[in-house]
Amino acid sequence: MLEETRQGEALLREDGLSAKKLYIESYGCQMNFSDSEIVASILTKEGYGTTKDVEEADLILLNTCSIRDKAEQTVRKRLTNFNKLKKAQPALKIGVLGCMAERLKDKLLDEEKLVDMVVGPDAYRDLPNLVQELDAGRKAVNVILSKEETYADVSPVRLGTNGINAFVSITRGCDNMCTFCVVPFTRGRERSRNPQTILEEVKDLEAQGYKEITLLGQNVDSYLWYGGGLKKDFEKASDAAKATSVGFAQLLEMAAEAAPKVRIRFSTSNPQDMHDDVLHAIAKYDNICKYIHLPVQSGSSRVLKLMNRGHNREEYLALIDRIRKIIPNCGISHDMITGFPTETEEDHAETLSLMDAVNYDFGYMFYYSERPNTYAARKMEDDIPLEVKKRRLQEIIDKQRAHSLVRHKQMVGDVQEVLIEGSSKKSENDWYGRNTYNTVVVFPKGDEKPGDFVNVKITDCTGGTLLGIKEN
Ligand code: SAH
Ligand code: F3S
Repeated sequence: MLEETRQGEALLREDGLSAKKLYIESYGCQMNFSDSEIVASILTKEGYGTTKDVEEADLILLNTCSIRDKAEQTVRKRLTNFNKLKKAQPALKIGVLGCMAERLKDKLLDEEKLVDMVVGPDAYRDLPNLVQELDAGRKAVNVILSKEETYADVSPVRLGTNGINAFVSITRGCDNMCTFCVVPFTRGRERSRNPQTILEEVKDLEAQGYKEITLLGQNVDSYLWYGGGLKKDFEKASDAAKATSVGFAQLLEMAAEAAPKVRIRFSTSNPQDMHDDVLHAIAKYDNICKYIHLPVQSGSSRVLKLMNRGHNREEYLALIDRIRKIIPNCGISHDMITGFPTETEEDHAETLSLMDAVNYDFGYMFYYSERPNTYAARKMEDDIPLEVKKRRLQEIIDKQRAHSLVRHKQMVGDVQEVLIEGSSKKSENDWYGRNTYNTVVVFPKGDEKPGDFVNVKITDCTGGTLLGIKEN
């Protein structure tokens, strides 16, 4: 989700005395945006203040994404923008963080001459040492993946925040090994964060006035705390550790109770790991949003097997049925890939028919991009021509657009609670917010303010937005 976006950051230290200025730009998934807040926190302690003005930076960091080739190309292109700056200011240092750093390691120093530092997602605690290396005129690399690192005790510096929405990471890494996916290689094995530290962060955000918190992980349903360590080593844990372990449904309930005035969201769910206890937790608490992002990738069981997805079409549809039963009217969105190796027109037709069966509110859709070293890259030929991948992608995009419109039309006439996040991009006279189903709602401004929960009567809609008026 959210790949190929970027965000320049603003948070000048108030004292204005910071000796050095850090400019950080994040690409890719929400986890990267959240990680950048951890990085800013670690470097703040080293005397760096953050700036949104790249021209005044002493250190530029790009927190990068490798999920598709296009995401990497975007970063490489962005790097070339810094050539001029570096010529003008030779002391300027440039670092690459995140998934590209982990995937390419010190090769990145050879390929991109202006890069001084390469730091993988589990090595941010080493930044103080790495920055010292830079100060000594050397290049610096740390791409060691960890079994334990969750940055549990690092209190993030909230970057570019509206003071309303915040992310809290709960797991790192992924063990699912989908055959197309680079994440298990760049983010390592799955491990969960201590629930106490999660709840403290949630309560702290509530006290600061935040109104919506998204619990983040590559696979949140797989959350399992048993005192620390890799998920795969749970079986080896002591009976006492197992008896007091905490799973995702419990964590979700604890978070909802810890901050009753805050909306709780979570991302991303994985069909094979999502169990009914999570669905019951969502149904039980008013402040847990009735929205599930549930990537499926394909509607064909044959393709799902080749993708090593751990679920087939029928199992996925059965889960959708249970969601609809336990959480009536739940918003559901998907991720889908077209043109995976060997995908036939019949497979593609099954994807379209699965979409018809589910009627998703929203979707993130991509055509297959071969990623080096993944199982699919090593064992399967990327044999679907680009035009075919793109044509199939357009067909699913068109279908999704039609389905979103149907879902939105069903909501016309409803009165929905909306959290105001700010002004509408299209008009200063309108508010922009979201309902519990994660749909954008736009309505005329009155005397409300961002951060308020208001009841809005939905009067009209487009494929992307609900339009309404505030109920008194
Ligand atoms: N569990 C993760 C998934 C990360 S990748 C999460 O937190 O969202 C996000 C989406 O990118 C995947 O669900 C998949 O649809 C897509 N994707 C991953 N690898 C891809 C590839 N090689 N080519 C095209 N799309 C890909
Ligand atoms: Fe990637 Fe599959 Fe994990 S898409 S992040 S390997 S669940």
